[in-house]
Amino acid sequence: MIAIVLGTRPEIIKMSPVVRECEKRGLDYFVLHTGQHYSYEMDRIFFEELELPRPKYNLDVGSGTHAEQTGKIMIGVEKILMQEKPKIVLVQGDTNTVLAGALAAAKLHIKAGHVEAGLRSYDKRMPEEINRVLTDHISDFLFAPTEVAKQNLIRESISENSIFVTGNTIVDAVYQNLEIAKKKVSVLKELNLKPKEYFLVTTHRQENVDVRERIKGIIRGLELIHNEFAIPVIFPIHPRTQKRIEEFGFNLNGVTLINPLGFLEFLQLEANAKLVLTDSGGVQEETCVLGVPCVTLRDNTERPETLEVGSNVLAGTKPERILGGVKLMLNKRNNWKNPFGDGKAGERIINAIMSEVGT
Ligand code: UD1
Ligand code: UDP
Repeated sequence: MIAIVLGTRPEIIKMSPVVRECEKRGLDYFVLHTGQHYSYEMDRIFFEELELPRPKYNLDVGSGTHAEQTGKIMIGVEKILMQEKPKIVLVQGDTNTVLAGALAAAKLHIKAGHVEAGLRSYDKRMPEEINRVLTDHISDFLFAPTEVAKQNLIRESISENSIFVTGNTIVDAVYQNLEIAKKKVSVLKELNLKPKEYFLVTTHRQENVDVRERIKGIIRGLELIHNEFAIPVIFPIHPRTQKRIEEFGFNLNGVTLINPLGFLEFLQLEANAKLVLTDSGGVQEETCVLGVPCVTLRDNTERPETLEVGSNVLAGTKPERILGGVKLMLNKRNNWKNPFGDGKAGERIINAIMSEVGT
């Protein structure tokens, strides 16, 4: 039996190809949702749109400090793993859910498989970097999306036998859903937007939005862009960011704030954007896959493949540098090759664990 542990928006999206593969093969598996994300538009909307089976369990841990959240998840996951006794636990990415899920499994001597292993920003200010490094070192199966990620793991003395280069499941998710998005949703019309005549923005990194100067810099950068290009700047706002902007009492000028969107709507907005500004991990990858230029509002990235192929540039959070990054990317040709695989990552991940689960 396979246990799939997930808890946040990007995990639901990036695990969807693995869930679909389990369904397709009729495997014995279950989904354990930790409840780290719980608002409708951060959680249930993705199960509905992607037509995923409802999780068998939901721990409803909700929000809290890092230790509270991680601890609660570990306690809840452990109980269920002791009952269900799966052969392997799969986790995806770098959230508190991922570390807590893998750690609970490892302590029970249940095999853990880390989807999207080997990413490194080498920046310990990021809670995600701590989660990634620890999860990689306690997992038995490391599903590296690229050769770069594999080499990061090898440099940390992780056994090559446990590493599988699979591609990133985000490519599977984009390929599986882009056509559906085109047919099913008409978000551009609803927002009164024309293809390639708007910018799209997301930001939610703790080290950006919890720090007054950094979030202020981003907001000012967006204003500069709006003044320079005179086209809409669309910003589906993450609940963390919404909360901080209210607390800091900032006004946003020239920016259209909207609620977080479903994956199909967001994918359609991304595919048609002139350029995307983000501090999201998944969005850096998706824009690269979709051939849309990206400006990353960070000082580093654990997705260096996007910089190498030229789909992305690091701009930090200073207004002038953000504007400079946009101008630079708009002067380039969008003819890079997607480095994140062929959309068959889900299939490869399940192939790799078949001997373990024995079904
Ligand atoms: C988490 C992950 C981050 C990931 C992001 C994806 C960690 C340490 N962080 O960050 O790596 O990139 O998810 O979006 O695991 N909130 C709601 N509704 C929700 C969820 C959150 O209102 O459904 C609000 C709460 O005020 C909460 C805040 O957002 O305190 C932050 O939520 P949390 O899950 O702690 O971190 P994220 O910033 O979402
Ligand atoms: N996303 C979405 N709706 C939105 C914003 C993002 O569906 O309004 C999707 C996006 O397509 C990507 C994922 O959410 O697949 C990225 O999640 P997020 O930025 O929250 O987390 P990260 O990737 O940084 O961990």
